[in-house]
Amino acid sequence: MSATTRQDPARDTLDALRRRFSPPLALVYGMNGSGAIEMTGEGARVRLSDGRTALDFGSYAVTLLGQRHPGVVAAVRRELDALPVSTRVLGNGTTAALGEALAAYADPERLTRVWLGLNGCDAVEAALKLARLATGRTRVLAVEGGYHGKSLGALAATWSTRYRGSLGPLLGGVDHLAPDVAAVPGAFAGEEVAAVIVEPVQGEGGVRPLEPAFLRALARAAREHGAFLIADEIQTGLRRCGPRLVSTDAGLRPDAVLLGKALGGGVQPLSAVLATEELYAPLTADPFVHTTTFSGHPLGAAAGVAALAAVEELAARGERLSALLFSGLARLARRHSGLIAGVRGRGLMWGVEFSGAAAAGDVLLELGRRGLVVSPCLGRPEVLRLLPPLVATDEEAEEALAVLDGACAAVPEEFRRAPAAPAAPAAPTAPAPPAVS
Ligand SMILES: Cc1ncc(COP(=O)(O)O)c(C=O)c1O
Repeated sequence: MSATTRQDPARDTLDALRRRFSPPLALVYGMNGSGAIEMTGEGARVRLSDGRTALDFGSYAVTLLGQRHPGVVAAVRRELDALPVSTRVLGNGTTAALGEALAAYADPERLTRVWLGLNGCDAVEAALKLARLATGRTRVLAVEGGYHGKSLGALAATWSTRYRGSLGPLLGGVDHLAPDVAAVPGAFAGEEVAAVIVEPVQGEGGVRPLEPAFLRALARAAREHGAFLIADEIQTGLRRCGPRLVSTDAGLRPDAVLLGKALGGGVQPLSAVLATEELYAPLTADPFVHTTTFSGHPLGAAAGVAALAAVEELAARGERLSALLFSGLARLARRHSGLIAGVRGRGLMWGVEFSGAAAAGDVLLELGRRGLVVSPCLGRPEVLRLLPPLVATDEEAEEALAVLDGACAAVPEEFRRAPAAPAAPAAPTAPAPPAVS
């Protein structure tokens, strides 16, 4: 390690990221951290290389349990000292334990089968493949505005043209329908549908809770047409939005639920498909029809078992935080009504829509300077997401709101429009229906 590295880890890191990865990405990292980089984390906070700490209300929804949750870290350490990788030819007790825990968590009567991956798109790919195999059909319906990942198969179901762009032809047979009850019957006309994939609250698409009536109509039509219903809860599940699952809370009976992001407890990469016997049948018949080297990885499995338990222990805390954020964001939306065009969300997943993408970008930089990490929306640059961890204290939630308030006050006047329609959120978290601005 050079003397420069010891003295200025941030500059060396950003230089290496620029050289070895991507100049624009390194530039954005540098701007977000005001020249500093992330060093360590604990609970709701990340410590930066310049000695500051930042509140982590972002991390693209991964740190639902905060940074280094003690229960998850201890479970992973135990596994690290036992058998961190599987031979893949012998049974592994930790992987089996995660299978049992997941089946008990979601819908023990229906979603009895499990497939494990590392990223969300792994789960999406596995579910789509199972649906095609189980039905013998190839057509898939996805929803406009939805995000399901960027691997080639998952990308076909993702709506944003920014990411689909010049990549065609993608996986064939995927059609998108508008999130509107009236669009449902027409979407099923024509070729038979293997599966419908839907995010009950669109996250990357700008934090858009879909209408329960639309979700129910979609589920009913899927059942009537013999198509499997896949609920992509990679972002919304595990109490991010209040209930264990938004889809089952809305009365749907999905044939598959996809989990990811927070499932690894903020410590390990982990995703899962929970499926009915019927959808999973091709894998029951031939377990090698869809495999990956690290599926069921013991370190991730240990993290997942601990994470499911920790999330349940913190459920009440999540409700309290959600109410606090709801009222705080409503206050800010009123105070900065020219800048904030709307606030939408549920539970611990809130989107603040600004007067435009440039305004959101400016607020993001200002938040970085003031020590609040949030997540932009990949498909809607005018929306910033607040994704606080369940472990945040009331004081940390108030602090985050105060930082957002200060950042909104600091951006140039040109980003403020004449106040228009009411910008406040409608209603806080569960039970029903999801809050829409
Ligand atoms: C709802 C949803 N599905 C799928 C994905 C893809 O997950 P990953 O980026 O881990 O592949 C994401 C990622 O943001 C997501 O939000």
